[in-house]
Amino acid sequence: MENKVKPNGSATLEVNGKKIDLPIYSGSIGPDVLDIRKLYAETGMFTYDPGFTSTASCESQITYIDGDAGVLMHRGYPIDQLAENSSFLEVCYLLLKGELPNKEEFADFEYTITRHTMVHAQFDRFFEGFRRDSHPMAVMVAAVGALSAFYHDSLNIHDPVQRKVTQNRLIAKVPTLAARAFKYWMGQPFISPRNDLGYAANFLRMCFAVPAEDYVVNPVLAKAMDKIFILHADHEQNASTSTVRLAGSSEANPFACIAAGIASLWGPAHGGANEACLKMLEEIGHVDNIPSFIEKVKDKNSGVRLMGFGHRVYKNYDPRAKVMQKACHEVLEAVGIKDDPLLHVAVELEKIALSDPYFIERKLYPNIDFYSGITLKAMGFPVEMFTVLFALARTVGWISQWTEMYEDPMQKIGRPRQIYTGATKRDYVPFDKR
Ligand code: CMC
Repeated sequence: MENKVKPNGSATLEVNGKKIDLPIYSGSIGPDVLDIRKLYAETGMFTYDPGFTSTASCESQITYIDGDAGVLMHRGYPIDQLAENSSFLEVCYLLLKGELPNKEEFADFEYTITRHTMVHAQFDRFFEGFRRDSHPMAVMVAAVGALSAFYHDSLNIHDPVQRKVTQNRLIAKVPTLAARAFKYWMGQPFISPRNDLGYAANFLRMCFAVPAEDYVVNPVLAKAMDKIFILHADHEQNASTSTVRLAGSSEANPFACIAAGIASLWGPAHGGANEACLKMLEEIGHVDNIPSFIEKVKDKNSGVRLMGFGHRVYKNYDPRAKVMQKACHEVLEAVGIKDDPLLHVAVELEKIALSDPYFIERKLYPNIDFYSGITLKAMGFPVEMFTVLFALARTVGWISQWTEMYEDPMQKIGRPRQIYTGATKRDYVPFDKR
């Protein structure tokens, strides 16, 4: 990656009577940043920013979010345009390479990904080590990490050819692993990928076909699945992506780094929110129960949050949520669900929350997970698979960000500092004197 930040003046900081100049940089859009790299050397002080709410950890040219305006763009293209007009594999190409492909480039990329979808036959026995009811996310963390034990020939991260092979392997094989994690959990035999199907259709078939009966892919569902993958493909420096970058900063191989990203994604404050959101809608059960639920959410002592609402960056409607809401209606219609009680609860809950001062004052709006659960459930996925689908789609974002990090001349091993408030020096006391 060629660094493109431009100097844009400086700010003066006075610490203990000493003045230092901190350079200011501008990107192409978005807030300027203050370069504090020399702060410790010049003042002996660190900055303190738990949760990185004011810290840019890297320069990136992949994804841009304006949380106040509700904007998300990949390589400059707005997410709604990509979701409506592009395909997931084209978005993969865009994220990885920075530009939309021409027809030949796309055909070549699609051919390569399609022909890397199988996993080594021995890999299938790896699954048998898990309890038969293992959560598919637990299996995914392990299975993606285990790819590094199966593909030694692409682990040299300093070789650009091997890096590219690993990128392709991840994008191609993660759907196969995800479908196998699902089948294992269901107790059904694994279904092999088929090269005559598109990326999303192939994934749906690997999930829902059984040896006794093939699965005829409904094109509306395949399109919706593809759209859902596009909506989850990348999201700037969120917890899982930052985890991938931090793990990768030590030069760990991408399979291991992405396994770390999947682990981070699993939490209910991040990718696990779609599973938590659907469980919440099921618990509420009926529109009559919404007011008491909202009261619980507003009561700080209850520990209850409105899942699928709020975002660290978006202080406006999550632009992905709008597309997801539309996809939700399309899927429900395609599968013939005319009157889904959960959708009723969701629509009413959204209406009430958006007019309640608690949510208005805190700028809490629906995020992508608010409607994704209902959509995925209607497609036939159990809640346990929701975060797996997120991980599948985010794999391209993670590997694009990993690659950008690797190629950034400014890249250093990540090593945050701390403000220590533990015990100061004291002498060891033997057992009999404690
Ligand atoms: N329900 C009720 N109150 C909330 C919620 C919520 N979902 N989210 C934030 N708040 C309140 C919070 O209690 C706090 O109130 P106060 O100022 O009175 O203390 C205020 O809003 C700010 O919240 P915060 O926790 O400081 O905000 P954050 O930026 O640290 O948290 C979040 C962001 C996504 C973790 C949080 O909004 C949340 O837990 N949402 C529910 C989980 C969810 O839907 N996550 C999916 C995120 S989108 C998918 C992804 O990218 O992973």
